[in-house]
Amino acid sequence: MPSRSARLEKIPPYLFAEIARVKAEMRARGEDIIDLGIGDPDQPTPADVVHALAKAATEPAYHRYDESPRGLPKFLEAGARWYKREYGVELDPNTEMLEVIGSKEGLAHLAWAFLDPGDGVIVPDPAYPVYRIQSDMCGADIFDVKLTEENGFLPKLEDIPTDLARRAKLFFTCYPNNPTGATAPLSFYEDAVRFCQDHDIFLVADLAYAQVTYDGYRCATALQVEGSKDCVIEFHSLSKPYNMTGWRIGFACGCPDAIAPLSRLKDNIDSKQFAAIADAGAFALENANNSKTMDLYKKRRDALVDGLNAAGWQVKKPDAAFYIWARVPTGESSAQFAKRLLEEAKVLVIPGNGYGPAGEGYVRMSLTVSGDINGERLAEAAVRMSKVALAGSRV
Ligand SMILES: Cc1ncc(COP(=O)(O)O)c(C=O)c1O
Repeated sequence: MPSRSARLEKIPPYLFAEIARVKAEMRARGEDIIDLGIGDPDQPTPADVVHALAKAATEPAYHRYDESPRGLPKFLEAGARWYKREYGVELDPNTEMLEVIGSKEGLAHLAWAFLDPGDGVIVPDPAYPVYRIQSDMCGADIFDVKLTEENGFLPKLEDIPTDLARRAKLFFTCYPNNPTGATAPLSFYEDAVRFCQDHDIFLVADLAYAQVTYDGYRCATALQVEGSKDCVIEFHSLSKPYNMTGWRIGFACGCPDAIAPLSRLKDNIDSKQFAAIADAGAFALENANNSKTMDLYKKRRDALVDGLNAAGWQVKKPDAAFYIWARVPTGESSAQFAKRLLEEAKVLVIPGNGYGPAGEGYVRMSLTVSGDINGERLAEAAVRMSKVALAGSRV
């Protein structure tokens, strides 16, 4: 039998696949699992967006290959208007935007569009695993930047050695952050843009959670920095704000010299998303209102964090994204603690080291819990986890 490519061997088992398997086994045994694992919105896509898709799906022109250069113009134009409305920056849909089949696809292929063996890439630790895995498969040299609690989970640019920065082509960032829930002020992007301009690097800003925010918080973007269009490429997604993870639609925007190579690579891999989905995506960008879902996440956030803190944990309420990043309160490793939580509390959390070595000592809890209508499952999860943590020692 032909062997798999050596590059495929670099891929660790997909974190969530392992966890999904254990969860399925426990559920099959009838266990009442509270699943704080994968960050996948449990609420339905807004009904008017679903109707927009149903209507668009009847359009014969959409049943053919989408031969537009960068994705459905209607979608890109809606994206440009949305960006101007939300972040105050003009984008040219023809040169500064590209439709992607979910931001995961775009981020992964960006690595392939730019990284040859031996090229440098700066990747945060901990981070959404796609940046590291794809860069590794490309044979690039990965320079880790540690995200620490003391530094608000922002990379310390002054700690990146100049010789490494000179070799780097891409610098991945993600705010609001998965897994830590941290946010970045505009001043961070100002510094990062200057750093990337000085060292001839593309700043890759993953903004998948830009619209998942609480208490009136509004996130900053890299493209809001004056003069940043020569070194920034951002990725935006409809998945998280509009409960559309299954739809696979988003866009890249920013520097035309970063967009064009990604577009060229994708032209030779996919033939774009089904145009009816892009059409409904345009409708979502113009019309969808995510405030009900955000209100629900906020209730869940408060129920979980207040419950944990009442039991002696010290957990912060994030301003954005739907993750709680909690220190393991018992002195166990992340994996041991997560295993015990699953077995004894029947609560599924993700061990922090799944996002990189610097995630050791933490677990991630997602607020996207099916069946919770008012924060009651999250309150229950806090009680169950606290009992297990208490029995395990220090809390
Ligand atoms: C930080 C981050 N970026 C990107 C994605 C990918 O989202 P999508 O491909 O659905 O747009 C995810 C999904 O979990 C994520 O957490």
